[in-house]
Amino acid sequence: MTLNFESEDIGSNPSDNRTFHDVLDTFVSRRAVIAGGLAGAAFAFAGSKVSAKGITPTKRTASGVAAKARPKIAFTSIPLQNTAMPTIAPEYQYSTLIPWRTRLDGKGEFAETLNSDQQAVAVGLGHDGMWYFGDNRKGMLAINFEYGTTQHALGKAVPTSLEEVRVSQHLHGVGVMYIEKGPKGWSMRKDKRNRRVHVNTPVEFSGPAAKSALLENAAGNQPLGTVNNCANGYTPWGTYLTCEENFNGYFGSTSTTWKASAEEARYGINASGFGYDWHKYDERFDRSQPGYANEINRFGWVVEIDPENPKAKPVKRTALGRIKHEGAELVVGKNNRVVVYMGDDERFDYIYKFVSSGDWKKMVAAGKSPLDEGVLYAARFNDDGTGNWLELSPNNPALASWTIDKILVHTRLAADLAGATKMDRPEWISTGADGWQYGTLTNNSNRGRSGQPGINAANPVPLNADGHIIRWKDSNGNLGGTFQWNLFLISQETFDEGGQMFGSPDGIWADPDGRIFIQTDGTQPGRNNDQMLVADSKTKEVKRLFTGVKGCEVTGVAVTPDRKTMFVNLQHPGDGDPTNTNFPAKFTGAAGPRPRDCTIVITRKDGGIIGS
Ligand code: FEO
Ligand code: CA
Ligand code: CA
Ligand code: CA
Repeated sequence: MTLNFESEDIGSNPSDNRTFHDVLDTFVSRRAVIAGGLAGAAFAFAGSKVSAKGITPTKRTASGVAAKARPKIAFTSIPLQNTAMPTIAPEYQYSTLIPWRTRLDGKGEFAETLNSDQQAVAVGLGHDGMWYFGDNRKGMLAINFEYGTTQHALGKAVPTSLEEVRVSQHLHGVGVMYIEKGPKGWSMRKDKRNRRVHVNTPVEFSGPAAKSALLENAAGNQPLGTVNNCANGYTPWGTYLTCEENFNGYFGSTSTTWKASAEEARYGINASGFGYDWHKYDERFDRSQPGYANEINRFGWVVEIDPENPKAKPVKRTALGRIKHEGAELVVGKNNRVVVYMGDDERFDYIYKFVSSGDWKKMVAAGKSPLDEGVLYAARFNDDGTGNWLELSPNNPALASWTIDKILVHTRLAADLAGATKMDRPEWISTGADGWQYGTLTNNSNRGRSGQPGINAANPVPLNADGHIIRWKDSNGNLGGTFQWNLFLISQETFDEGGQMFGSPDGIWADPDGRIFIQTDGTQPGRNNDQMLVADSKTKEVKRLFTGVKGCEVTGVAVTPDRKTMFVNLQHPGDGDPTNTNFPAKFTGAAGPRPRDCTIVITRKDGGIIGS
């Protein structure tokens, strides 16, 4: 999410499990740390031989196949920009796809004044994580619509009727759309599989907490909807995973005497939320309505959607825990068990993994979901470059008195007790060609502030305004309880390395050749626009492929199977303000149309693989 509603910036982890071995209470200034080799300083204190660049990743992938030689990253890196239109490397070109308000029936687009019924069958706002299910010319694009401010969506600061709340609710969620490549490039077409999932779409719960009383309301209302869908994942059985992030911001209280419980406070729930004001017109979102006391527990999940079956209800997979889910990176581990890596995007929150109980192929054949049975863990990053996955179940002595449904619904509080390492806002995770998981830690300017957790080896930058990228390698084919880790890139270190600087890494995608695509969401050096870079996982060489427009975030990556087409998203271009940009329309200034979130289709002019 962008800064205006960045609740994750505030942080809501009051637990005093300090970062493991969090013994550095001396404060090292940013410049001094960088001059001396920043991560090195922290590691040296911990007495480790590991440096930020010290552990060489294994040359073998998780499946035991030798990783390829250095990937070709031959394009001309472009400078950072502060432009009203995107820029792209000269060897590349882009086009746009599915801007907000595009009709899913293929009949053009609705007006800016669209009503709630129209918004329910149109492309939403806040294009974010996505995946493409198809061949090199046609297929289904599943895409998250994370959020849109009331100003952007309705042209006013707050909704003043239930109908306006419904417009706002219907622009959130997920879209599944058929797209194809024609003579004029990629476009969305009418298809019976096209669908919108939004805040009022019937959904169901599955897994160990599905029948929990914590998910039932006295009002007896059926589970509805998904919200603040941020990053994503996809499964080898062909489904899409959408992740509910800042759900807290959509709830509020109409009563001045309502107070958040300890569990609610830990998820950042308060009386006003992010100012959407849904609670004033829709009692489901009013925390002071006793009939809906557990409605809040119905959000914060990973939700599975079948992109081929528009009638199938989205399923909330409770085994994956309830956090502010950024993404869900699924890998097939040893013995065909699926492993899902997930970040919880809040200052001082955690990284998680889920391991299925069995072989996914056998489970699917038996009619079971591999995402319903398994064990959830939270990560502890030790200062010596090792790590431990801490089991979140009653088998963990720290959680012996907890039931599994309580652990899965109040996952953050369970991970506090388990002793997980407080990270600098975990965002996306992707698995490299080297078999390592690469995870962005976008920023945490409270790190090391008075009264806040100090630096540790995994989060070594005090007042970390610009973030870093960590990577880890699990033991035992991703099933093990231990891992090794090191730091891939520290944003502030890139500031001194010529033109390839970036801040606030967020989206990340590793391709099978060893390229790491890095997308940013936040202030860039020189107050420039957000961007997408390509890094070599071995040499850490970085080149800039694309820059967005003023006020936007660059997020979401999907590719065709040949990797000759890449889809990325521009979220909140101009922050919705036409004086910044009219994108995707050509910039004409304030008199032009409101800018619209949309998908960017990237190809190489010579038809080569993206990133080469
Ligand atoms: Fe939706 Fe953490 O960004
Ligand atoms: Ca975001
Ligand atoms: Ca994000
Ligand atoms: Ca972000």
